[in-house]
Amino acid sequence: MKFFIDTANLDEIREAQELGVLDGVTTNPSLMAKEGITGRDKILKHYVDICEIVDGDVSAEVIATDFDKIIKEGEQLAELHDQIVVKVPMIEDGVKALKYFSDNGIRTNCTLVFSAGQALLAAKAGATYVSPFIGRLDDISTDGLNLIAEIRHIYDNYGYETQILAASIRHTMHIINCAKIGADVMTGGLDSIKGLLKHPLTDSGLEKFLADYKKGN
Ligand code: G3P
Repeated sequence: MKFFIDTANLDEIREAQELGVLDGVTTNPSLMAKEGITGRDKILKHYVDICEIVDGDVSAEVIATDFDKIIKEGEQLAELHDQIVVKVPMIEDGVKALKYFSDNGIRTNCTLVFSAGQALLAAKAGATYVSPFIGRLDDISTDGLNLIAEIRHIYDNYGYETQILAASIRHTMHIINCAKIGADVMTGGLDSIKGLLKHPLTDSGLEKFLADYKKGN
């Protein structure tokens, strides 16, 4: 399972990269705004800064919502760096753009996916990644993990190569359950990734080992 971090915060990206388990980064306009990164030039530079920290794929989201503008913006984003994956919303012109980018060798991440039907369309259009937002489904009393399972089932039925990128991950159990179901990638905050480290028996066991070592030395 690939681990992406879902943030535009460079310190958090560096920390995850140093942990040695990071495979990529996802961002969106809200995450950029949270870091105070506004204005086209600053946003484009920030994508390059992120690419220079991590080795893997970095999703950069288009703002345009009509086909011609999505293509223009996506091509500009893809030219920024080899690691850029163009993030395209699941709308009608977005689906057309996914197909165009796929035909022209530009990798994509289809975002704002909330149903199996949307994920099927994204795969048929040749998306590299599809991003079902499981936390936001849970927020409205819908089973986000069930959507991951449905998409896994459908993609396996037909051998679609689109990678399932479980997004809107809120906690460690989301990660573990997505791994059990077979999501290809998860993207979450640094806390959810570091949460996987924690177990009280690890802490108490280490404390005892170190205390026993000290007794003999
Ligand atoms: O990658 C999608 C993600 O950024 C959405 O997360 O927590 O805003 O639902 P959230």
